[in-house]
Amino acid sequence: MKNLFSSKNELISRKEKENLLSQKGTCFWLTGLSGSGKTTIAKLTAEKLHSDGILTQVLDGDNIRLGVNKNLTFSEEDRTENIRRIAEITKLFIENGVVTICCFISPTKKMRSLAKKIIGSKDFNEIFVNTSLEDCTKRDTKGLYKKAALGEIKNFTGVSAPFEEPISAELIIPTQNLSAEDSSRILYNFALQLIK
Ligand code: ADX
Repeated sequence: MKNLFSSKNELISRKEKENLLSQKGTCFWLTGLSGSGKTTIAKLTAEKLHSDGILTQVLDGDNIRLGVNKNLTFSEEDRTENIRRIAEITKLFIENGVVTICCFISPTKKMRSLAKKIIGSKDFNEIFVNTSLEDCTKRDTKGLYKKAALGEIKNFTGVSAPFEEPISAELIIPTQNLSAEDSSRILYNFALQLIK
């Protein structure tokens, strides 16, 4: 970009901010179908970490899309822009030492690679919330699968838009026979090794 200058040398370094908080900033990037449980797992995990004195931030699709990304649709191009902006926001949180839990369908390998590139591979921990389409459709907590089946929602992930399962996730949470509490404990235990 012309006439723009990145100010890399902030007065207070990431290390100093991490020392202040006695934790390490990082990101847990939860990918999975709509209704797979990403946000529920993230919230329960964040509560546990908070009780341990760890500063967290949960970012999720519905909230971000009601605010900063409210001009974006679910076309492939807009989903990519959605993920690009979220990755940039996540990077800011990480630079401040915050443990950031991101809950976005991020349906393609390309979108997840973009996020990883922006955030940096060291801070990007890909977590696959593996709930089958069948289970998500059965649960249909937001009633969106029903609408998608009726053709009332276009480009619905898993129904009329693709979801590419991650092949190299750092952690897979197989939610099928697990309660939300059990699922969040898996993420919590994984997270603890990385942030202390
Ligand atoms: S992403 O594909 O761009 O990563 P994101 O995680 O931000 O998606 O938003 C997903 C949420 O938006 C879903 O959980 C659902 O509540 C809502 N939604 C609305 N329309 C769609 C759609 N066409 N496909 C998927 N999710 C949708």
